Amino acid sequence: MIKKAIILAGGMGTRMSPLTKAVNKQLLPLYDKPLIYYPLSVMMLAGVRDILIIVNKGQLNQFKKILPEKNNIGISIKYKEQLKPKGLPEAFTIGEKFIGKENIALILGDNFFYGQSLTQILKKNISLKNGAKIFIHPVKNPSLYGVATLGKNKKVLNLKEKPKNSKSNLAVTGLYFFDNKVVDLTKKLKPSKRGELEIIDLLKVYKRKNKLKAEFIGRGGSWLDTGSINDFYDASNFISTIENRQGLKIACLEEIAFSKGWIKKSDILKAIKFYGSCNYSNYLKNLI
Ligand code: DAU
Repeated sequence: MIKKAIILAGGMGTRMSPLTKAVNKQLLPLYDKPLIYYPLSVMMLAGVRDILIIVNKGQLNQFKKILPEKNNIGISIKYKEQLKPKGLPEAFTIGEKFIGKENIALILGDNFFYGQSLTQILKKNISLKNGAKIFIHPVKNPSLYGVATLGKNKKVLNLKEKPKNSKSNLAVTGLYFFDNKVVDLTKKLKPSKRGELEIIDLLKVYKRKNKLKAEFIGRGGSWLDTGSINDFYDASNFISTIENRQGLKIACLEEIAFSKGWIKKSDILKAIKFYGSCNYSNYLKNLI
């Protein structure tokens, strides 16, 4: 069972141009709320209430301003700083103390997941006891992502980070479930040619031990990566279209916490005070 999650929210990622790298994009609004709300909402939907957010050195206070610890969303949020972006698996050594003896979920702070099938898949897979699980979604441009080749019964045959030519169009999304061995296995990883620890290398260790499983997010779910500035604005438009059409918000943290019985009406009133006068607050008022 996974009860803890790490959100890796440092840096801008490899696909942002220097001109757009001035601030941490996880703090930027993706349509009507900060980007970090979206991966956080995914973990909350999965029922995970113990969260570690890893941010760039010097950016802790900015995150605390938009997500204060007493934000009344019924979960515990801790923070750690990453001194330099040395690769995604570094989350497990930075988070070693937080992880303790538990299994762990990792979600990249710039990944956006949405859809009915997603909640079902999260609920099904959160019970992971051992090994690792990756979540797969087809894409048109696999060379931008980690790519998996799957065989019968979703068996992972091959994994490659940003392959130039790939027969498979199955991207490995930025959501990963691991057993507790991940900390020790990360410590044995060697940096790649670009000087980073690679998540694909870590997954390959699990694959070699026959301990790696894959799950499709499926057609009922969407996965968008906000890696480039174009993707960022596409995701923003997607959210605006859905929210304005349905009148329901995506990634409203208080709504998720309230529906799970983690918070009371009085907590939502406190949240409204925290957000001040805005569309998000009006939505919360309507909820109660
Ligand atoms: O989005 C899914 C993809 O994410 C996977 O398909 C790839 O296998 C995986 O390597 C990763 O690829 P990216 O090219 O998106 O990784 P990037 O270096 O851009 O980092 C992703 C996010 O993680 C980004 O918001 C920055 C943050 N990050 C990255 C590194 C390397 C950190 O916070 N610390 C780091 O050390």
